[in-house]
Amino acid sequence: MNSKRWAALSLVVIAVGWFAYDAIERKRDDEHVRELMSAQRQRRSVEQAKPSTPTKPPSDMVVSLIPGNVWFVGKYEDGGGIEIPFPPGESPVKSSDETPKHDNPGFVGPDQCRECHQDKYESFLQTAHFKTSRPVNENTIDGKFEPGTNTFQTSDPNMSFEMIREDDEFLQRVKFFDWSFEVPMEIIMGSSKMAQTYLYWHKDRLYQHNVTHITDGDQWINSPGYIDGDAAYARPIPQRCLECHLTYFDYRGNNNQYTPGSLILGVTCERCHGPGQEHVNHHREHKGDREANAIINPAALDRQVQMDICGQCHGGTREMKGDALSFRPGDRLADHYDPPDDEADVKNSVHTSNQLNRLAQSKCFQQSMMTCIDCHDPHHNERGDRALFSSRCMNCHENESDCGHFPQEGITFAENCIDCHMPQRPTEKLRLKSVDGDVFPPLRDHFIRADQLATERFMREQAK
Ligand code: HEC
Ligand code: HEC
Ligand code: HEC
Ligand code: HEC
Ligand code: HEC
Ligand code: HEC
Ligand code: HEC
Repeated sequence: MNSKRWAALSLVVIAVGWFAYDAIERKRDDEHVRELMSAQRQRRSVEQAKPSTPTKPPSDMVVSLIPGNVWFVGKYEDGGGIEIPFPPGESPVKSSDETPKHDNPGFVGPDQCRECHQDKYESFLQTAHFKTSRPVNENTIDGKFEPGTNTFQTSDPNMSFEMIREDDEFLQRVKFFDWSFEVPMEIIMGSSKMAQTYLYWHKDRLYQHNVTHITDGDQWINSPGYIDGDAAYARPIPQRCLECHLTYFDYRGNNNQYTPGSLILGVTCERCHGPGQEHVNHHREHKGDREANAIINPAALDRQVQMDICGQCHGGTREMKGDALSFRPGDRLADHYDPPDDEADVKNSVHTSNQLNRLAQSKCFQQSMMTCIDCHDPHHNERGDRALFSSRCMNCHENESDCGHFPQEGITFAENCIDCHMPQRPTEKLRLKSVDGDVFPPLRDHFIRADQLATERFMREQAK
């Protein structure tokens, strides 16, 4: 039977199956049938979810070791295919305990701050900073795992992915012609505002998965920069990536080698306040001491130095001059990083938008002492609250009538200074490939100004 007929037949099977299912489901009073169905569904999901024992690729596939200790598996030597850092037919090796290469300079993690800063700690757990890297588990992972909803079919009919769950384990299954294998998802990167991407360990090395979940549309999609139709599981996670998305890690001195037990996930307290060990020890030993010891309050720093704290991660793609994680609150960015690499980066960078440089072009910034925390409270999740953000504009612009465009019929200016003056723009450099085409997540432009295009768009949307 040729493949077209197979496809037609399977559509029929799916359709028949669907209608049969629908008919049974409609008998809402028939408890028995529903119990049977649910038992059957569960059995099905268990059957499908079971990770299979790894098998070697069939003999008609090309298997070769390419530079960088990566295995390539394909149908042809020079076509697309699979790249993995572990031998085909084997699984990634679980990370093992290793002695750290460096002394931890005093990062203790946010849980240590809880006993004395309960309120800040609790509200901080809701922020994108806290959630930007997390262990994978059923509470943290997005996306669908039920059979029938858990697949990502690439534009190559012979390459697809299945996201599966087995007890507490979550895996990506790669299906390439009649060969398949699985890779566990271990660390989530991304707060889910836009997306989650997944990392896994092979020994003491960290790699990224091929399939990412994007929040918009609840879809499985290729990770940024990945080629649709390939399965790439050998992309190493460099230090700079962790430096922007984690609090601490011990680098083992080689590309993507880290000490597994050393990671402090999330961008947490100490990246803005400095390592907390000494502070915690001091205040545990001197319970009555109300004077803060050995910790930095960014509010007390000079303007540019304060903003450089945020600039570690919100200042565009800057190459490190020395070691990762050497920057401490109070330092100057220029002493640790090269400036962002190009004009485009300043315009609308990677996936960071370069708020630092964009904001600096605004009159608001140039003619006041504005810093990031005039509008952002790092300890609360204030996302999407336009009225709150607008109230912060009016800390300087006395009221809405300061706006040269005020008034307009049907528009409550005081509740939204944002969409006209800080519109969202697609991030040119964060290109996600989906089967339907490219996706560019939108980010807020921090160059605050009178923006005619954004105003027209906003007025049009309001008129609808
Ligand atoms: C054993 C109690 C204790 C622990 C644990 C603790 N702190 Fe504090 N912290 C204090 C006290 C006391 C002060 C001074 C009074 C105040 O500002 O609340 C303080 C003040 C601060 C300040 C303000 C500094 C200033 O100059 O205004 C920051 C920032 C801070 N702590 C951060 C942290 C971080 C981050 C952690 C966790 C790594 C932490 N603290 C853990 C007791 C503690
Ligand atoms: C220079 C710092 C920096 C580097 C390097 C960096 N990121 Fe990011 N990343 C950010 C910032 C900042 C955001 C948030 C964008 C925003 O909201 O403006 C972000 C957003 C993301 C998101 C989307 C999160 C969401 O749901 O909002 C993912 C996923 C992500 N990064 C993964 C990565 C991975 C993987 C790497 C390394 C290969 C990486 N990033 C490197 C700073 C960085
Ligand atoms: C993204 C950077 C950032 C993170 C993460 C962060 N803070 Fe802060 N924190 C600041 C800044 C900036 C200030 C000064 C402005 C202010 O008060 O909001 C501050 C002020 C403080 C203060 C003193 C001011 C006050 O209101 O008492 C304490 C205490 C504090 N932070 C504790 C924490 C703790 C505990 C955590 C983690 C649970 C944390 N911070 C996470 C940036 C951060
Ligand atoms: C160590 C890196 C790092 C530092 C330092 C840092 N950020 Fe972030 N910030 C991130 C990352 C990564 C994200 C994206 C989180 C995500 O969505 O996954 C982010 C997200 C944000 C967001 C978006 C929150 C949301 O829910 O939409 C704001 C606002 C923000 N940061 C402001 C600040 C400010 C202000 C400072 C300085 C006081 C700062 N950040 C310091 C890495 C950092
Ligand atoms: C820390 C004070 C401060 C804050 C907060 C602030 N601005 Fe401004 N803004 C200024 C100053 C100062 C100017 C220049 C003098 C003027 O035009 O009033 C300015 C100018 C502007 C301009 C004219 C820009 C131009 O190029 O002519 C716009 C538009 C504007 N602000 C919008 C906003 C919006 C929207 C917010 C909130 C998202 C905001 N501002 C928050 C201080 C501030
Ligand atoms: C519907 C879109 C829209 C909204 C909402 C809006 N603005 Fe404006 N704003 C404009 C436009 C357009 C201009 C340029 C007006 C001109 O030059 O005729 C402007 C100008 C300004 C200016 C520069 C002053 C001037 O006369 O050129 C400031 C400051 C400003 N707005 C602040 C605000 C603040 C604060 C808010 C929220 C309370 C706000 N705007 C809400 C569209 C808007
Ligand atoms: C004048 C007010 C203002 C200042 C100052 C400001 N921001 Fe923002 N920022 C906003 C608003 C408004 C949003 C949109 C928030 C939302 O919709 O949740 C935003 C969003 C963000 C986001 C999320 C990205 C996105 O596109 O949703 C990040 C990250 C961020 N700001 C970082 C910074 C950093 C870093 C600084 C300092 C360099 C800074 N901001 C200064 C007003 C400001």
